[in-house]
Amino acid sequence: MAASNTGDEDFDRKLTYCDREYQEHSLRYEIYQVPIDSEEETRLLEQHEMLKLIYSDWNNGLYAPIVGDPEVILDCGFGTGTWAYDMAEYDPNCMIADLNHRLDCAEAETFDLIHSRFVSSGISATRWPNYFRDMHRLLKRGGWVQITEWDLFFRSDSGNSDALQALNEWTRLYTQALGSSARPEGRKRSRVVQDCEAWMRMAGFVNVSTDVRDVPTCAWPQGAHSSSKSFCFHPTDKELGTTDAHNRSIGEANLTNMKGLIHSLALYPVTSRQIREIEGFHELIEAAYAELSDVGAKPYIRLHTTFGRKR
Ligand SMILES: C[S@@+](CC[C@H](N)C(=O)[O-])C[C@H]1O[C@@H](n2cnc3c(N)ncnc32)[C@H](O)[C@@H]1O
Repeated sequence: MAASNTGDEDFDRKLTYCDREYQEHSLRYEIYQVPIDSEEETRLLEQHEMLKLIYSDWNNGLYAPIVGDPEVILDCGFGTGTWAYDMAEYDPNCMIADLNHRLDCAEAETFDLIHSRFVSSGISATRWPNYFRDMHRLLKRGGWVQITEWDLFFRSDSGNSDALQALNEWTRLYTQALGSSARPEGRKRSRVVQDCEAWMRMAGFVNVSTDVRDVPTCAWPQGAHSSSKSFCFHPTDKELGTTDAHNRSIGEANLTNMKGLIHSLALYPVTSRQIREIEGFHELIEAAYAELSDVGAKPYIRLHTTFGRKR
């Protein structure tokens, strides 16, 4: 499908591809190939609200108690800026910098907390170790990094992975597309959560740990969460009195979120690199939508937050 320009200035110029709007500069240099339109903005806003429900045991659902009481904070890849705005409202005394630019522009030993959430589709595969080194340099001694990413692989809690074939195919195509750029810096990784702890330790972080939560991709049947062994939002769920209704409302929100996410993330990389024709891609997405909401399969996806402290 032909792409068309809709803006004027070089950096801000937008480009429409398959009815989605992208930043042309980002596409041309293969920095970030995800739409920046109102559809994606709405998804990011709703995803943020859902995360606050998932992390209801954190400070206002925004940062873990382990991080302490940060005063100077950096939010990397801020998107619609919701996390930073909520943070400023929660603690009016803190100072927050939003950064959608290069980390090497910022001054060393400045921040108490660096927050990085869902930026993996914009970080080159080879950049990750340095991304953590840069964050380490920018933190004050005793400061924390908190990095949250989806593990983009769909699982069935009823052991019926056959019911998730389209979703598995989506992961395969997306992974292939991200890895197949002709530009080395254009190559990205679809799954990074397994390596974050090692990269953090290599960068010099201590007290490295990961909080893993299994998040359903639809509202599972009444009572299905509590009967499942592997399903949990957090080990302290029981103490917090997390209810089945709470889990079901997260599942409902995540169905809308994941439907948007699998389309937004993969449309351009998969179809522009001819990994799959546009029509075939949309057929796959329709099949994947049905699987996301297959309550019998009890589908879910893992959400990882990894923490590390600068000594
Ligand atoms: C999926 S959005 C997530 C936004 C926000 N962190 C949140 O959780 O809602 C990814 C954001 O990271 C930014 N981004 C991606 N790759 C980047 C890069 N290489 N350099 C700077 N910003 C980047 C994008 O512009 C976008 O704002």
